[in-house]
Amino acid sequence: KIAHPTFYLAPDPTKRTLTSSCCFLSRRALSKTPLTLALNQTQHCKQLEGLVSSQMQLCRSNLELMQTIIHAAKEVKKTCVKAFSDMRWNCSTIELAPNFQQDLERGTRESAFVHALSAATISHTIARACTTGDLPGCSCGPIPGEAPSPGYRWGGCADNLHYGVLMGSKFSDAPMKMKKSGSQANKLMHLHNSEVGRQVLKASLEMKCKCHGVSGSCSIKTCWRGLQELREIALDLKTKYLSATKVVHRPMGTRKQLVPKDIDIRPVQETELVYLQSSPDFCLQNEKLGSPGTQDRQCNKTSNGSDSCDLMCCGRGYNPYMDTVVERCHCKYHWCCYVTCKKCERMVERYVCK
Ligand SMILES: *[C@@H]1O[C@H](CO)[C@@H](O)[C@H](O)[C@H]1NC(C)=O
Ligand SMILES: *[C@@H]1O[C@H](CO)[C@@H](O)[C@H](O)[C@H]1NC(C)=O
Ligand SMILES: *[C@@H]1O[C@H](CO)[C@@H](O)[C@H](O)[C@H]1NC(C)=O
Ligand SMILES: *[C@@H]1O[C@H](CO)[C@@H](O)[C@H](O)[C@H]1NC(C)=O
Repeated sequence: KIAHPTFYLAPDPTKRTLTSSCCFLSRRALSKTPLTLALNQTQHCKQLEGLVSSQMQLCRSNLELMQTIIHAAKEVKKTCVKAFSDMRWNCSTIELAPNFQQDLERGTRESAFVHALSAATISHTIARACTTGDLPGCSCGPIPGEAPSPGYRWGGCADNLHYGVLMGSKFSDAPMKMKKSGSQANKLMHLHNSEVGRQVLKASLEMKCKCHGVSGSCSIKTCWRGLQELREIALDLKTKYLSATKVVHRPMGTRKQLVPKDIDIRPVQETELVYLQSSPDFCLQNEKLGSPGTQDRQCNKTSNGSDSCDLMCCGRGYNPYMDTVVERCHCKYHWCCYVTCKKCERMVERYVCK
């Protein structure tokens, strides 16, 4: 029997332990996933635990895409951790598999962020993979009709946003579109937030231009349409996370819909993240609530933001410790044209929450 990777892409409602409807793989599963996974239709798609049937079909007909999706799953975790390094909730619950459904499936603000980020990431990764020629189903994005800036012409390879969004949403929304999985309110919430993630991704498409030519002569000027980096998209989504709207599932017109809880009757806006359940304060460890607590988290004594020792440590206080940083120092410029440096060690005081 071959050792196969345990996948965690999405829930199969028949498997109680795999109820995350999100489109990422758990860290634990990823650690078992070889870098290049040899997938073949007949055998391996079946072995990817937790795929719903329409994802299974996508897997069979787009095997090459699966490699990109695994890559996207790793990016979700990495990008989330970076964007939330100054917050009490630090994305660690993406790691607590298979228990993360308990917080990320409860419909909290954090699960809103993770679903939006996942949807954006999967489409971003596919759109980029098109430009590197890793996927047989797509290539560079279309060249726009209008001319770029004066003096420039279109060149390079545009990120294929259209294909990325098409395939990404097919894959990541599949579990939420199934009749039998989870509560209707949660599904609506996740679908809405995934769409917000893709909107932010689409809005990040920008013109990138480059000057070429001998020693900066700029005799050749080219532009293409490229997506912003994921970390910037994550920061946009973090802003939306901080101002997310609490909603309830109640009748509006002929159907039950998500409507803002506290504000006058208005429909949910397409640009806002929404959540159904309030989050804990994440101060203390509570695995059920998906809170690792902030004990031993690093805090910043001089900051007055969310990473300040006061806020991060929830008033419990903090312990200082000494850390060594290695820096480049005594740098010398040599004619012509290079720089040599030495390595210097410096002690800095850091703080962790009690
Ligand atoms: C697919 O993978 C399985 C298991 O590794 C192997 O037994 C089978 O021969 C492969 N099929 C093809 C068509 O490569
Ligand atoms: C998040 O915080 C917890 C609690 O301090 C810590 O154990 C964990 O390593 C952190 N995770 C990341 C990804 O920083
Ligand atoms: C702490 O916060 C201050 C003020 O925001 C910032 O300038 C500094 O770089 C931070 N230090 C660390 C170690 O992050
Ligand atoms: C931190 O304090 C400074 C000075 O009091 C203030 O200008 C700044 O807005 C504060 N930042 C935050 C995040 O509260």
